[in-house]
Amino acid sequence: MTVLVTGGAGYIGSHMVWELLDAGERVVVVDNLSKGFDWAVAPEASLVKGDVADTDLIGGLIREHAIDAVIHFAGSIVVPESVADPLAYYQNNTCKTRTLIETAVQANVRNFIFSSTAAVYGGAGIEPVKENAPLDPESPYGRSKLMSEWMLRDAAEAHDLRYTALRYFNVAGADPNGRTGQSTPGATHLIKVACETALGKRPFMQVFGTDYQTADGTCVRDYIHVSDLVRAHRLALQRLRAGGDSIIANCGYGHGYSVFEVIEAVRRVHGGDFDVRNGPRRPGDAASVVANSDLARHELGWAPQRDDLDLIVADALAWERRLQTLNSARG
Ligand code: UFG
Repeated sequence: MTVLVTGGAGYIGSHMVWELLDAGERVVVVDNLSKGFDWAVAPEASLVKGDVADTDLIGGLIREHAIDAVIHFAGSIVVPESVADPLAYYQNNTCKTRTLIETAVQANVRNFIFSSTAAVYGGAGIEPVKENAPLDPESPYGRSKLMSEWMLRDAAEAHDLRYTALRYFNVAGADPNGRTGQSTPGATHLIKVACETALGKRPFMQVFGTDYQTADGTCVRDYIHVSDLVRAHRLALQRLRAGGDSIIANCGYGHGYSVFEVIEAVRRVHGGDFDVRNGPRRPGDAASVVANSDLARHELGWAPQRDDLDLIVADALAWERRLQTLNSARG
């Protein structure tokens, strides 16, 4: 049996590939390399450059490699970009996911794991947010993912398909063994930005808003180590293969840190100061987004191993240094 990982050359997907290989799985990656990097894919996996909506390609791979499960990461993930170009997001995330599900169903793939997001909830819910909280996405990005969840639910009702949708909170960090990490240029994620600033890749960074209704006035997020996140997918795969039913589960630790606390952690772990400037709020940011992760813990038997902000930051910093070396070696 082989697992198809779409978007396996990207940040989370490339970690997933290592997680599966480490567990002895065979892996085929399909990635259009629009954001990912071929060098990020573990050499033991087969990388095919292509589109998840290419039915001939995907159907052929499923048959050729006896693929029994799809883990679908490929998609667009930048919230403001989705506001500026919603139709691109519905095309890339929703329409292509529809085609991929159809191809999987037609080729008798019974297990589907989907990369969803906390952005399906919207910002005004009760914290920590449970999976049955009201779904009211604030962006086309969130809606594009929520529609994919709905398609999966309906397809699983109608066909011999079971799925797990995992709603990610704030994913950060890098492979503790230094094999891959967050490599996208111009990334906007807080921990990545702070690490880049600490290492002098940016002259300064900004804190987007210091007047929120939180303990120190800055936004609170539930940062989850990418290694724990991909382990949740592997457990979901095991569970589906063992006949588990379809579920949707949050992936976060269940507690949050403020922007100031994250920056303090980067200073502490890096062992040096860097230029941080207080700025205005960033449009669309909720004051606090924290997961209730009981369901993932109970249903998947998920026991996070890197639930420690300093550890997340240490791995992110180590990868940022390694990326500097890799990029200068590549010229
Ligand atoms: N922030 C700063 N300065 C920066 C970058 C971020 O102050 O340079 C702040 C943001 O304003 C926010 C917090 O740090 O308060 C976290 O911001 P990120 O951009 O790292 O992450 P978001 O919480 O905005 O977004 C994440 C995912 C999205 C997903 C969303 C769902 O990246 O894909 O969570 O809640 F949609």
